[in-house]
Amino acid sequence: MQIITTKNELKAIVGACKANKQTIGLVPTMGALHAGHASLVKRAVEDNDVCFVSVFVNPTQFNNKEDLAKYPRNIERDAQLLESIGATYVFAPTPEEMYSAEEMNTTFEFDFAGLDKVMEGKMRPGHFNGVVQVVSRLFYLVQPDKAYFGEKDFQQLAIIHHMVERSSMAGTFGNLQIIDCPIVREESGLALSSRNERLSAEEKKTALAISKTLFDSLKWAKEDNATVASIQQRVIDTVNAVEGLEVEYYEIVDQTSLLPTDTFNHAIGCITVYCGPVRLIDNIKY
Ligand code: PAF
Repeated sequence: MQIITTKNELKAIVGACKANKQTIGLVPTMGALHAGHASLVKRAVEDNDVCFVSVFVNPTQFNNKEDLAKYPRNIERDAQLLESIGATYVFAPTPEEMYSAEEMNTTFEFDFAGLDKVMEGKMRPGHFNGVVQVVSRLFYLVQPDKAYFGEKDFQQLAIIHHMVERSSMAGTFGNLQIIDCPIVREESGLALSSRNERLSAEEKKTALAISKTLFDSLKWAKEDNATVASIQQRVIDTVNAVEGLEVEYYEIVDQTSLLPTDTFNHAIGCITVYCGPVRLIDNIKY
């Protein structure tokens, strides 16, 4: 496995892969890798001739400086894990290598047909512009045949699909396929997240109520008289009743439009909860 830190080196390697007609898989990450990331990388290794993993804590998608500063970083440990599961190349640039000073400070405005105006987009203005800014740059640099993303960030995935479908009309990313990968959970049910590293042992136990409530809500949704509104409220009340947890939002929405729905058909419930100072997200499909 080779670690690449500059765009020029990356372009040269990608050029050689293309000349050799090798298929390329890309897994974009912000590092602090866990078994969830490993599942994406293993899939990319299996599906493609070469697998690139980017490790880059993207400053333009953080609207909270403290969150950016506290985001866990450990490139040595990440590199060891990636090598052990067969990644071919790791792209780990500095922010200065990735962006010009102007790009770092300009607010990019992409049109996501409203997908960015709800849930995470409402709570973190500009977040998805930053995500698409970096992901589209990675697609441009690595020219992958397939790119892998986890369903834990369901709204991010919907927005990336939208971006690729729109731009593929113009042929920007060739025949790039976005591969959706299921949420990986601890045996306890807790969705794996780099942010879990910031939870104390006690907070980690408290956080289990989030996934448990989401799974319980699948049963509640089958009860007589259950409505989307009643289940939405029941989830919020149940999680809020746990000391140490505070729901920011729980919304049951249509899986495609991400707009509120009044049927459980093709619906997904997306939750954001503060566990102490740590903001955790999870979701469940009905
Ligand atoms: O999901 C993430 O870790 C990030 O949002 C991504 C896709 C790597 C872009 O920085």
